[in-house]
Amino acid sequence: MMYQYFVWLSILTFGPIPLFSLQVKDPKCRYRVQLPVASWHTAYDACAENNRTLVTITSLTEMYLIDLVLQEVDELFLTPLIYSHSTGVWIKAFLRSSTNESMLENCKSLDPQLPVKISDAGPSDMVCLYYNRTEQNFITDDCSQEKMFICESNSEELEACMKDTAKESLKDEVPFKFCLDTVYNSVTSEEQCEKICREKQSCYTFTYSSDCKIYRLKDDSTCSMGRYPPPMIKHKSFFMHSATNYPVSSAKPLTEWCPELTEEVIQEKIDNIQKNLTVNPKETNQYIRTLTSAPDDRQSAKNIGIVGVSVISVVFGIIILSDCINVVKGIQNKCTR
Ligand SMILES: *[C@@H]1O[C@H](CO)[C@@H](O)[C@H](O)[C@H]1NC(C)=O
Ligand SMILES: *[C@@H]1O[C@H](CO)[C@@H](O)[C@H](O)[C@H]1NC(C)=O
Ligand SMILES: *[C@@H]1O[C@H](CO)[C@@H](O)[C@H](O)[C@H]1NC(C)=O
Ligand SMILES: *[C@@H]1O[C@H](CO)[C@@H](O)[C@H](O)[C@H]1NC(C)=O
Repeated sequence: MMYQYFVWLSILTFGPIPLFSLQVKDPKCRYRVQLPVASWHTAYDACAENNRTLVTITSLTEMYLIDLVLQEVDELFLTPLIYSHSTGVWIKAFLRSSTNESMLENCKSLDPQLPVKISDAGPSDMVCLYYNRTEQNFITDDCSQEKMFICESNSEELEACMKDTAKESLKDEVPFKFCLDTVYNSVTSEEQCEKICREKQSCYTFTYSSDCKIYRLKDDSTCSMGRYPPPMIKHKSFFMHSATNYPVSSAKPLTEWCPELTEEVIQEKIDNIQKNLTVNPKETNQYIRTLTSAPDDRQSAKNIGIVGVSVISVVFGIIILSDCINVVKGIQNKCTR
């Protein structure tokens, strides 16, 4: 995870302030902060629907990176986004209530360095973890509570920071109205306008026709993108407020995330091991040995070999020698003639 070291370095050097303007592709743009709020299970599936995963925070570095992303999102709003402060953001981690063991979806324990705070959240066997950016810690809550969430790209590659979305599938309602922020008259191309938007923290989206218009999100019902808003808009990819709610997912019990060691589960494990042991017959040593000769280091074997070689040498030697004698005799006969 190279980008983590890059992020660490910039945090250590400059502090957790978004100092740099966004690059075309940026470590922050692997993440997408999503609204409307949703239950943990719905959020999990909503990310998967977009070929992404609910954000995994496995180190403090990643936690600080998430802070930077949330700060970037704040900048898109004239009044800072209250959601992440008031509800927290869901992350891909949960806690087994019976043991207070916090874990990732594959049931691996969470890095003990990460600050987890257990708050009582009912009698359920599983409670979910959200990130409180004010306290910079992870707190447990009932998984059915609705919160903002962050999806993360499945790929380690950097992602583009501007994204195309159909205008109609983005929320453009109070308090998330697209409001004209600045007009640039001397801009001569769409690419230039896009660059201005990408590098300007307050810009969420832009339009370019004869001039370059930059839009921010505001709690103002009088705002509008004009009479004919474009059908597709290009916007900052790290924030997306879907116009419609996500399909609601039913809660999956802890046993489905982390199967207990029941007889069935053990049998499944045994079957898997057996499958792994049942190898292709053409790969067995026995088969390979029929095709190659094996070295034999015993002295008796060597002795037998030596005797064999000697016998063969003597026999061939006699034959060749007798031939030699004939040849020599022949030559002698020719010379004396
Ligand atoms: C997700 O990936 C699949 C297969 O790679 C693709 O068919 C589908 O369109 C992708 N969905 C989205 C929302 O990108
Ligand atoms: C996060 O922490 C702050 C400070 O302790 C607290 O006021 C706030 O209610 C917390 N938010 C959530 C959603 O837990
Ligand atoms: C889990 O943590 C809570 C809060 O710290 C505590 O009240 C409870 O006894 C703990 N449960 C177990 C099984 O350790
Ligand atoms: C079987 O082999 C695969 C791949 O070699 C490995 O990923 C898996 O863990 C193995 N399963 C068991 C039960 O040993």
